[in-house]
Amino acid sequence: SGAAVPSAATLRITASGAAAPGRAGGDDAVVYLDDGLMIVDQGRILRIGDYATLAPTLDAGVSLVDWRGRLIVPGFIDTHIHYPQTDMIASPAPGLLPWLETYTFPTEARFEDPAYAAEVARFFLDELQRCGTTTALVYCTVHPGSAEAFFAESHARNLRMVAGKVMMDRNCPEFLRDTAESGARDSEELLRRWHGTGRQMYALTPRFAPTSSAAQLGACGELAQAYQDVFIQSHVAENQDEVRWAHELFPGRRSYLDIYDHYGLLRPRSVYGHCIWLDEADRLRMRDAGALAAHCPTSNQFLGSGLFDYAAARTAGMPTALATDVGGGSSFSMLQTMNEAHKVARLSGHHLSALEMFYLATAGAAQALGLQDSIGTLAEGAEADFIVLDPRATELLARRTARADTLEELLFAFAMLGDDRAVAATYSAGRMLHRRADNC
Ligand code: GUN
Ligand code: ZN
Repeated sequence: SGAAVPSAATLRITASGAAAPGRAGGDDAVVYLDDGLMIVDQGRILRIGDYATLAPTLDAGVSLVDWRGRLIVPGFIDTHIHYPQTDMIASPAPGLLPWLETYTFPTEARFEDPAYAAEVARFFLDELQRCGTTTALVYCTVHPGSAEAFFAESHARNLRMVAGKVMMDRNCPEFLRDTAESGARDSEELLRRWHGTGRQMYALTPRFAPTSSAAQLGACGELAQAYQDVFIQSHVAENQDEVRWAHELFPGRRSYLDIYDHYGLLRPRSVYGHCIWLDEADRLRMRDAGALAAHCPTSNQFLGSGLFDYAAARTAGMPTALATDVGGGSSFSMLQTMNEAHKVARLSGHHLSALEMFYLATAGAAQALGLQDSIGTLAEGAEADFIVLDPRATELLARRTARADTLEELLFAFAMLGDDRAVAATYSAGRMLHRRADNC
C-alpha cells in the first residue's frame, strides 16, 4: 500500500555521473514533468512518471494526494549548521571571534542540560521542516548528551541526518572543553551507537583547528581511519584573523587546510565550512581528496568573513554545496541561502543559475556526500524525502511566477523571493511531517 502524490508540475533533478545543470554534459540532468505522478511505498519512491501513464496502474485503495499547481522537488540538504545556536541566531557582534566569545560559547554551555538540548532539538528540526530541509550536517556541542538528544529526536522522526559531538580541548572556556582522550572516546561511543541506526549518520566534529590540540586532531584522524564511512566536519579559512591564528598555532603547515590534511582529515565524506581564504593549491587538494566545501553565504556576509570565490571553486573543480551555518547564518531557509549565494557568485564574476543552485542544494550535495542513491533525487528507488513548493505562496511570488516563461525563471523566482512560506509541505521517508497552515 502506498501514497501516490500527483502534481501538475513535478521537477526531478538527477545526479548522473558528474553531470550537473549548466556544466558540459549536464543538460540531461534535469527532468521536468508538467503533470506527474510519484508513487511512494515504504518510505521510498516506487515509480515516477506522467500522470496519464501511471495513474491507470494504481491499485484501487491507494490514497492520492493532489498537489496540482505546485512544484515537487527533492528535500533540501544543508551541509553545515549548528543546532545549539538556534536560540542565538541574529546576535550582533563585530566578526567571528568576538561573536564566538560573546554569544556562541555561553549559549552552547547550556547544552550540559539534556532537557534543554532535547527541547532545542525539537524546535530546530521543526524549523528545518518548515524550510524544506530534509537532511543536514549538524554540529552539536562538546557535551555527548547534546548529540544523544539530537539523534534521539531525529531518529524518532525517521529523518536522514548527519551529526556529531564537537571536539575542542583548548582556546575556549574551561567549561566547554573535552580532552584528546575523552573527545575521541565519547565520539567513538556515539558513532557506534548512532551511525547506521535507522537513517542517522555520524560526523567526527573537531570544531576548528584553533580549538583542538595536535593530540586531539591526531586522535580524530585515527578514528577517521578506523571508521571510513563516517563523515568528518570542521571549519576552514572563514575569516582572516582566524587564518592568522591557525598559522600561529600550527607553524609547520603550508596552509590552514594543510593542518587537517596532515592529520588525515581530508578525504571523501569530509566537509569543510566556508573555504573562503583558500589558495589555488588548497582548492585542488580539496578536489583530489574528494572533500566538500560548504559555502555559507548568509553567514559570511552576516559576520563579514569574506566572499566565497565561486568562480575559482568551479575552475578548480572543488566540490561545493550550500549551507546556512545557523546561527552565524541569518536564515534557516535554503531558498534564502540560494538568494545570497547568487549575489556572492555575481561578485566573483560568475552567474549562478537557479538550476545549478537547486542542484547544489539537492542532488549535487548528495553526490558529494556519497548519498546519491538515497537522497537529493526523485529517482525510483530513492528515499522519499521531498518538498512541495507553492508558486503562489505570497502575493509577489504569485505575480512573478505567473510571468515565468521557463523553468529557470520559475526556480529563480523561488530562490530570490522564497523562504519558509514557499514550502507548502515537507515529506520525509514518504510521511508528510510539515504542512503550511495557510495552504489549500
Ligand atoms: N568557527 C568555529 N566555530 C564556529 C561556529 O560556531 N560558527 C562559525 N561560523 N564559525 C566557527
Ligand atoms: Zn559553522
